[in-house]
Amino acid sequence: MSHPSLPVRGPFPSTRMRRTRRHEWVRNLVRENTLSAEHLIWPLFVCEGEGVREAVPSMPGVNRYSLDLCLEQVARAIEYGISAIALFPKTPTSKKTAQAEEATNPNNLMCSALRAIRDRFGDQIGLVADVALDPYTSHGHDGLVVNDYVVNDQTIDILCRQAVVQAEAGASVIAPSDMMDGRIGSIRNALDDSGHHEVLLMSYAAKYASAFYGPFRDAVGSAGSLGKATKKTYQMDPAASDEALHEVALDLQEGADIVMVKPGMPYLDIVRRIRDTFAVPVAIYQVSGEYAMLTAAAQNGWLDRRSVVLESLLSMRRAGANMILTYFALEVAHYLKGEEYVAG
Ligand code: PBG
Repeated sequence: MSHPSLPVRGPFPSTRMRRTRRHEWVRNLVRENTLSAEHLIWPLFVCEGEGVREAVPSMPGVNRYSLDLCLEQVARAIEYGISAIALFPKTPTSKKTAQAEEATNPNNLMCSALRAIRDRFGDQIGLVADVALDPYTSHGHDGLVVNDYVVNDQTIDILCRQAVVQAEAGASVIAPSDMMDGRIGSIRNALDDSGHHEVLLMSYAAKYASAFYGPFRDAVGSAGSLGKATKKTYQMDPAASDEALHEVALDLQEGADIVMVKPGMPYLDIVRRIRDTFAVPVAIYQVSGEYAMLTAAAQNGWLDRRSVVLESLLSMRRAGANMILTYFALEVAHYLKGEEYVAG
């Protein structure tokens, strides 16, 4: 018995797969997946000061911007049709503590940035706020550490307060990236109790303990704090697959609106499994290490930057991602309009 989805006609010569590849127009007609700026979320690093634009050495082309310059970048993102930006603060070392007090300060860098962007641009672009303690802890972990262990429930109390100050400052999406158990439900309740029913929850549901986050930790300045410690007691084992479905099921029950897989290209199988199992929006994060790899190869002249960037993002759409967080977002939005890109 042949499978109902298999073609009914016989093999070569009656079936010639190359007919639909012959010309651009027919390739366009049969194309199954597309990539547009609307699918993209652009992560931006903010730092203190004025007129500051600092390069991140392990991510050539990516900068940290002080608020004034950050607003210019957001204006460019809106002009190029990018749907949302995701903000990550570089907290000065002097404001990092073991208890991460700065995380819940309503006037911290993150909240000031959210407020300024919201005031200037209203709802023209989505504002995704990261919830986790690593930008604020002196030890670089995403939660509180007691007896050398990242403790779950006490961390959640702080995450809830962090989420509420961010929502108050104008975040449209709260994105918990900490991987504590039960934080989605607790944060949903905290948001609802403080009148933020409309704020979305995008859960980093299947977030792996990945070495591809290295350059990001340079960008937010948590690499030095973390030292040789790992996040393996809370982020997922790269060998796991079924477990990702379990994580997603729990986060959906707890109230996540969007679930995320992270990193991107090495985990496309996970995106596909989630898409086939749950009828919900899925995000994928092409992380800092992926950006660094593609950029380094292109800088060496080993790969064609424009082509591999577009192909890597299309592969994520093909795997089933509705939306993609990528440091290439603004660059790709230029390519999709047929324009050259110069980083600002
Ligand atoms: C931390 C966080 C990380 C990233 C986003 N949020 C790093 C980590 O878990 O150590 C990684 C993003 C990237 O690598 O681009 N809460």
